[in-house]
Amino acid sequence: MKVLGIETSCDETGVAIYDSHQGLLSHGLHSQVDLHARYGGVIPELASRDHIQKILPLIDSVLTEAHLTLQDLDGIAYTAGPGLVGALLVGAMLGRSLAFALNKPAVAVHHMEGHLLAPMLETDPPTFPFVALLVSGGHTQLIQVKKIGEYVVLGDSVDDAVGEAFDKTAKLLGLAYPGGAQLEKLAAQGNPLRFRFPRPMLNRPGLDFSFSGLKTFAANTLRQTPLDATLHADIARAFQDAVVATLVAKCRRALQFTHWNTLVVAGGVSANTALREGLTKMLTQLGGRVYFPRSAFCTDNGAMIAYAGCQRLLAGEQVNLNVQVFPRWPLSDLKKIG
Ligand code: KG4
Ligand code: ZN
Repeated sequence: MKVLGIETSCDETGVAIYDSHQGLLSHGLHSQVDLHARYGGVIPELASRDHIQKILPLIDSVLTEAHLTLQDLDGIAYTAGPGLVGALLVGAMLGRSLAFALNKPAVAVHHMEGHLLAPMLETDPPTFPFVALLVSGGHTQLIQVKKIGEYVVLGDSVDDAVGEAFDKTAKLLGLAYPGGAQLEKLAAQGNPLRFRFPRPMLNRPGLDFSFSGLKTFAANTLRQTPLDATLHADIARAFQDAVVATLVAKCRRALQFTHWNTLVVAGGVSANTALREGLTKMLTQLGGRVYFPRSAFCTDNGAMIAYAGCQRLLAGEQVNLNVQVFPRWPLSDLKKIG
């Protein structure tokens, strides 16, 4: 089955074609980062307009790359939430209408299910069951995954998502939006011994996260310390070390709670090398394994939506002609497959 996947939930227009027999055939991405950078965050109206401009040429280019025409597709998958309503509607309206015109099924995909299944696109994919750590600009969640659609949220953010905390701290340090990847580069030059930031919520039981205090701690440290050549890098390093230590400790707890030894990490922050190294070391100590998507598929992309949509279409799921998108959509509402 060949499925066209469309992702427009935020500031990346992503399109891909996934084939259940041959794997990923092609993928294309247009990032709006430059468009929003001067405002210091995503402007929803600008995001929707840009998706409208970029999506058709991207679909043409992935079809050409895969040597296919629209008629060769067996179904269309689009992200229906969570995300920005206007942005979601662009992909959903186009995806649903294309499927109608082609007389093929369409399926609505949950953006976070897409992230969670992104490591399945790699040559050595994880097997079920596993614990998933979803770390993006909007989410920080630990999920117990028995199989596709069987999700139990074990832990969630009580305030800022981890990517959001990275972006806000990066902004304090004078880096452009979204600053996560740039903060990582700056942290690599920092001294790990100069500052020690708190490890939020580790001194109490449970698997929830809170990262907004770390951003405040960074702001206070910056204000109270006389400026010197390495101050920004040292703060970036202390912030990142605290985030990584907290995420590693919570993942260890979740694995001990479930008695499983497979961890899947996905979402934009899973591109962070320090986090990858910290989690890999912990899983080696536990005798388990951690799986990440390739870095291009850590952040938003169409490939993860094409993959997740293909699994749901193969299981017989499809949407009717009503186009619905959901700015909020709990993962636990999804249907089990099989
Ligand atoms: O998954 P994603 O592309 O979009 C959402 O669904 O939110 O995640 C974007 C987030 C941003 O906050 C970005 O700063 C962060 O992922 N990010 C990183 C890195 N690369 C992207 N954070 C830390 N280190 C990185 N290398
Ligand atoms: Zn995302």
